[in-house]
Amino acid sequence: MKDKKAYKPCDLVIFGALGDLSRRKLLISLYRLEKSSLLEPDTRIIGVDRHAETNPGFAQITHTSLQEFLNKEIDDSVWKRFSARLSYIKIDLTQPDQYEQLHKVIDQKSRVMVNYFAVSPVLFKSICQGLAKSGVLTEESRMVMEKPIGHDLASSKEINDEVARVFNEKQVYRIDHYLGKETVLNLLALRFANSIFTTNWNHTAIDHIQITVAEEIGIEGRWEYFDKTGQLRDMLQNHLLQILTFIAMEPPVNLEARSIHMEKIKVLEALRPITINNAHEKTVRGQYTAGYLKGKAVPGYLEEEGANKESSTESFVALRVDIDNWRWADVPFYLRTGKRMHNKRTEIVVYFKQLPHNIFKDSYRDLPPNRLIIHLQPNEGVEIEMLNKIPGIDEHLKIQKTKLDLSFSEAFKKNSIFGGYEKLILEALRGNPTLFLSREEVEQAWTWIDSIQAAWAHINEAPKPYAAGSWGPVASIALLARDGRTWEE
Ligand code: BG6
Repeated sequence: MKDKKAYKPCDLVIFGALGDLSRRKLLISLYRLEKSSLLEPDTRIIGVDRHAETNPGFAQITHTSLQEFLNKEIDDSVWKRFSARLSYIKIDLTQPDQYEQLHKVIDQKSRVMVNYFAVSPVLFKSICQGLAKSGVLTEESRMVMEKPIGHDLASSKEINDEVARVFNEKQVYRIDHYLGKETVLNLLALRFANSIFTTNWNHTAIDHIQITVAEEIGIEGRWEYFDKTGQLRDMLQNHLLQILTFIAMEPPVNLEARSIHMEKIKVLEALRPITINNAHEKTVRGQYTAGYLKGKAVPGYLEEEGANKESSTESFVALRVDIDNWRWADVPFYLRTGKRMHNKRTEIVVYFKQLPHNIFKDSYRDLPPNRLIIHLQPNEGVEIEMLNKIPGIDEHLKIQKTKLDLSFSEAFKKNSIFGGYEKLILEALRGNPTLFLSREEVEQAWTWIDSIQAAWAHINEAPKPYAAGSWGPVASIALLARDGRTWEE
């Protein structure tokens, strides 16, 4: 990865600066970067939106957003530095003629323009046209875009084609905020810096792998977006498949973007298609009903504000995924993700194979397998479950399960753990594309997801109900039980 030296002063232009994504995530992350002195002194933040705000007005909205979403006191001296970077331009994003105004603030000669499209993809076309027409872009300019990049392969291609008319692939930074999470990045270190995980990271030693991304939250006022999207497209097409590629890929030649993208694409290409012929055994769709979370009653999906009572959109998905390559032959990956689940938990559990013969029958009739548990959030860390002799001289040799526990907050006390956005914004400002998605990756992921979506449309079954606060529908337990396995709870 490129280091800090490659940095050149940047103008970060946020299109949709007054919108939800900008207020909840981007401005908060930028403030946190400021607080940690990670923003270069000459970086400027230019908000663009259609409302008639002034520079002080935008600063005020930013301040209010921090009060609302930072979960910490605003530090006055940090705010003073941060607010000095902020400015605002009113542009109706649908009107290409209005982008001319960017010339008032953008200095093309000595600064790099980083355009963050924090808006719905329906506006991408007019933003691209406006930017092109205004002549404000240079070869060094970059554009950052967020998921959803389409809702299937065809629409994703349309968006990418539109963007490609103005930005070449090297200028495009496609964000999946999970790739900025400390623990997702740590998968590279865990796998490729530790010899104990190199020789046995394959079908000879591993029985199966589980990836869980459980959320406590429900729809949070996003019913309209979510109901058209569903958990498969909202979470699995991107975040879970990205985690899967990091776990399953071959060692990249180096940490450059191209090497990593190439290995990830190979994994996506090797995913065995889920079609109408096998969707019944390999997939579970669920939808939450009313229930309790941490003792508090919460409504079901169909009772959420603005809900269409007939909706059959899934808020939970579980899949058995097979990867058809040498390394992962006969090693299933079980993926599950859902809203309103028992608690927020993102983790990967690697189950190693059972040993062929048990000489410790006094302690265990069946020796439990070693497990590697990677906690991505919360309580970031890594645990290895091992069997150990119970100390004592008067006992026959007895063994017991124990854990080697590496908690990041304990081991790295001085280092703060940031969310994904801080890291990715920093990388985009530094011009390092390694942690962003290539067009090919996104399209390959859609190809695989489209087949599942088509199978579901064909089968046309209502999602299985699960009570809010549970671990998902019973069918999800059955998905593993069929293979003689159980979910990590
Ligand atoms: C977003 C999804 O990409 O990720 C949301 O659109 C989801 O529906 C969120 O809640 C989860 O992110 P995190 O970082 O809280 O796990």
